[in-house]
Amino acid sequence: MTINIIIDTDPGIDDAVALMLALKSPEINVVGITTVAGNVPVDRATENVLKILRYLGITDIPVYQGAYRPIYGELTDTSDVHGSDGLGDVGLEAPKDYKISDKHAVEFLLRASKEYKDLIVVTIGPLTNIALAILLDKKFSERIKHFVSMCGVYGLTKYGVGNITSRAEFNVYTDPIAAKIYFSTPAIKYLIGLDVTQKPSAMLTAKDRVKMRNYGGIGKLIFNMLRRFRGSVPLHDPLTIAYLLDKEVLKFRELYVDVEVSGIYTFGETMADLRQDIPDWLREGFKAYVAYDIDGKKYKEILFTRLIGRRD
Ligand code: BDR
Ligand code: CA
Repeated sequence: MTINIIIDTDPGIDDAVALMLALKSPEINVVGITTVAGNVPVDRATENVLKILRYLGITDIPVYQGAYRPIYGELTDTSDVHGSDGLGDVGLEAPKDYKISDKHAVEFLLRASKEYKDLIVVTIGPLTNIALAILLDKKFSERIKHFVSMCGVYGLTKYGVGNITSRAEFNVYTDPIAAKIYFSTPAIKYLIGLDVTQKPSAMLTAKDRVKMRNYGGIGKLIFNMLRRFRGSVPLHDPLTIAYLLDKEVLKFRELYVDVEVSGIYTFGETMADLRQDIPDWLREGFKAYVAYDIDGKKYKEILFTRLIGRRD
């Protein structure tokens, strides 16, 4: 069965890997790609999507540019992680003749939610576009089969610590109000946070990256994009796609979650109500499925087989 998805993204090296994983997987139909300001300003995010499409020789996937700034929050310079162009400065070129749509990403999200009965929205950047779609159309989120989001950190594993501040995950920190609007909708949400993406068994070791380089092609591209890193590197965003390809890769718990939208140390911090044995009506936050465990070996197998065509 074909899995119809929209990917909302702010590339970003790991966004680029997520896009390639989805676009190289025949069971997944990428209905469209929407961009959002996050790792890079939105026009750069759009350009980076086009660079990846050109690299893969794809000419027919619609691309829609979205929000140019967070609803509330500032863009952070991430060039130390993602390079000055957002894609590790490997010199990928944008296509000269790829026309992006003149419609806004949010308009597309609303329209596609009506056209597809089984649409999955995958978010791997700040949640600004999604929040705007929710605010524009009360029924939008209910028409989505479900969302899968790389966002937040919920204290579910010992690896679940912040990556932009000590407590906050980058996508939520960049636009916490948008995350709150998203959390508060009754839609079905699968949240994949740093609790699992930072588990050592799920990270790409230096050895994994050398192996990738030696296989050439996409493997070499990933190696080069990540060349500024030493030791193990988390690949957060592709986990959303890996989960759609193989449900066994993650375990989820239904929890109530919310986000801090102010605070010196807590700005953008996500919380899960982990109290045991209390009735649901006493719980704080909004219902979501939150990833609490990952099969790191399986995740890496998916990355290797799908992107490089080899298992080891
Ligand atoms: C998230 O932050 C970004 O830098 C990555 O692309 C990913 O979406 C991880 O916190
Ligand atoms: Ca991202």
